[in-house]
Amino acid sequence: MCGIYCYVGKKKAIPILLDGLASLEYRGYDSAGIAYVTDKININKEKGHLSNLKNLIDAQTDTYIGIGHTRWATHGKPSKKNAHPFKQGKITLVHNGIIENYQELKKILTEYNLKSETDSEILTCLIDKLYSECHDIIKVLAKLNKIIKGSYAIGLIVKDDKNNIYGIKKNSPLILAQSDIGNFLASDIPAILKYTNKYILLDDNDIVKMNKDEITIYDSKLNILDKKINTFDGDVSKISKGKYEHFMVKEIFEQPDVLYKTYLENQNLPDLKKYNKIHIVGCGSAYHAGLIGKYYIEKYCNIEVNVEIASEYRYKNNFIDKNTLVIFISQSGETADTLACVKKVKDKCDTLGIINVIDSSIAREVKNVIYTKAGCEIAVATTKAYSCQILLLMMMVLKKDITNLISKINHLLKNNYEQISQKIYNKEHLFYIGRDIDYYLALEGSLKLKEISYIHSEAYPAGELKHGTISLIEKNTVVIAIATDKDLVDKTISNIKEVKARGAYVIYITTNSLNQESDFYDEKIVIEEDLYQPLLTIIPIQLIAYHVAKLRKCDIDKPKNLAKSVTVE
Ligand code: AGP
Repeated sequence: MCGIYCYVGKKKAIPILLDGLASLEYRGYDSAGIAYVTDKININKEKGHLSNLKNLIDAQTDTYIGIGHTRWATHGKPSKKNAHPFKQGKITLVHNGIIENYQELKKILTEYNLKSETDSEILTCLIDKLYSECHDIIKVLAKLNKIIKGSYAIGLIVKDDKNNIYGIKKNSPLILAQSDIGNFLASDIPAILKYTNKYILLDDNDIVKMNKDEITIYDSKLNILDKKINTFDGDVSKISKGKYEHFMVKEIFEQPDVLYKTYLENQNLPDLKKYNKIHIVGCGSAYHAGLIGKYYIEKYCNIEVNVEIASEYRYKNNFIDKNTLVIFISQSGETADTLACVKKVKDKCDTLGIINVIDSSIAREVKNVIYTKAGCEIAVATTKAYSCQILLLMMMVLKKDITNLISKINHLLKNNYEQISQKIYNKEHLFYIGRDIDYYLALEGSLKLKEISYIHSEAYPAGELKHGTISLIEKNTVVIAIATDKDLVDKTISNIKEVKARGAYVIYITTNSLNQESDFYDEKIVIEEDLYQPLLTIIPIQLIAYHVAKLRKCDIDKPKNLAKSVTVE
C-alpha cells in the first residue's frame, strides 16, 4: 500500500525522507518519489525500487523540508509519470487512498494539463484550483470532505508558503510526530520510531500545519485542536531481521514468544455467552483466522457464528441486532474493507476488534479491542499475527494454560521441512485439502504458498473434490492433505485415497494420536495433538510455504503486487 513520509526540521531532509520511505517499503510499492524545497520545489521520482530514486538525488542537498511517497498502483500502471509527488500550479502533493469521484472532478478541472493516469493528480489540481480562489490552504483542506468521495491521506507543500507542510486524512492512515530534530507526517508509527516514540493520532478531517518549530492541528471548522500525545511502548530493536534471512522466517520463529505474551496479557477476555449470534469479519488470513474462531466458538459455546469476507459483508444485509456481536480481525487495523464494515455496523450492535497495531483506525472505531501482542509484523505474508489471532479466539472459549503448547511449537520449529519443499517447489499447481477445521487451515496454507511463491494453489474441502475438481488430479499433482480431527480422519483418508488412485503426490499432515501407517501418502508430517491444535498444524504449513518460496528465489518479505496493509478498496 502507498506510504507517505514528510519531514521538516533542523536536519538535511533528503537522507531522512529516503530512510523514512525505506521503513515503509514493507507496505508494498512499485515506484517512489520525493519533493524538497531549496529556492524552489524540486521533484524526483522513479519507477521500481527505492534505490532507483536514490540514484537520482544528491543526499547532501541543502534542504530541510520535503514530502516523500512510495506508490502501490491503483489508478494507472506503475510508472515514473504516475509516481508521486504531483505538482500542479502552486500545490505539490503526495496521497494515499482512492478518490472515487475523480472522473467527475476531472470535468471541472479542464484547464489543467494532466501528465498522469492517476486520481491523485486530479486531487492535486482540485486543491490548486480551490487554493487559487481563496489563497488559504487550511480552508481548502477543510472543504475536501464535502467534495471528495473516497479516502485520502495527504501531505502537501504550497509554492508561496515553502516553510510549511500541510496534511489531512480521511479513511486512510496518517500520524503526526514531533522530535528534537523536527516534525513528521507518516503513514504508520514504526516509520518515525527512529527519531521519537511520541506520536499524535489524527482523526478524519483533522488538518495539520507543521514547520521546523511548531505543529498546529485544526478541525474542519478551523478550530485549533489540542490532541493527545501518545507514547509507543514497543521495542524498536525488534524491527530488524537479526540472524534471519527474511522477516517472514524470523516472525515464524517469534511465534512461541509472542503467543505466550498474547496469552499472558489477555487473561480477561469478553464473555461471548451474552450474545445469541456472532459475526466474524476480516480479509485474507484474518478471515481464515475467523474461521478457526467459528469452529471453537460453535463447538464450546454453542453460539451460531458467521464468518464473512469484509469486502462482501459491507455490501449485504447483515441481519444484526442488539444481541449480535461482530468481531473484526485485522493485523494492521487499517484494511479499508474491514474498517468500512466497522463503520457500517458499529451503531447497531457490539463490536470487538482483534488487532495487532495499537491505535490503528479499526482499533479506534470498535467498541472494544483486544490486542494481539505479535509486535511489528513486517513480512507481507502474516504468520505470527495470524497465530495470535487464532489463539485469542480459542482463549475466549478455552481456559487451558498454553505452556505445554508452546513447548510443542518449539519442538516443531526444529523441523525445517526443506526436504519436502525440495520436492514441490517446481510445481505450478498444488492442492490443499481437509475437512472442517483442517479445511480452514488448508485455506491459510494455500494463501501462504500463493502469495510468496506464486505457485497456483487451491484449498478444497476434502469431501468436495469428487464433485468436480478431482478432474484436475493427474500423475504427480501435489496434494497437501490435513487430517487432525479424530472424528473426521477416516473420511479424509478416503478422500486422500481417491486422489492417490489418480496419481497424486500426497503430503499428509496428521497428529501422533492419529498416526496410521499405510500407503496412501508419499510424505507424512506428524505433529503432536493439542487442544490448541491449529497452532501446531500451522507451523509446517508456514515453513513449507517459506522454503518453497526461497527455493524459487522469490521476494519473500515483499511479494509482487502485494501490500502489507490494504488501505484501499
Ligand atoms: C496474509 O498473509 C495477507 N498478507 C493478507 O491476506 C492479509 O491477511 C489481509 O490483507 C488482511 O490484512 P489485515 O489483517 O491487516 O486486515
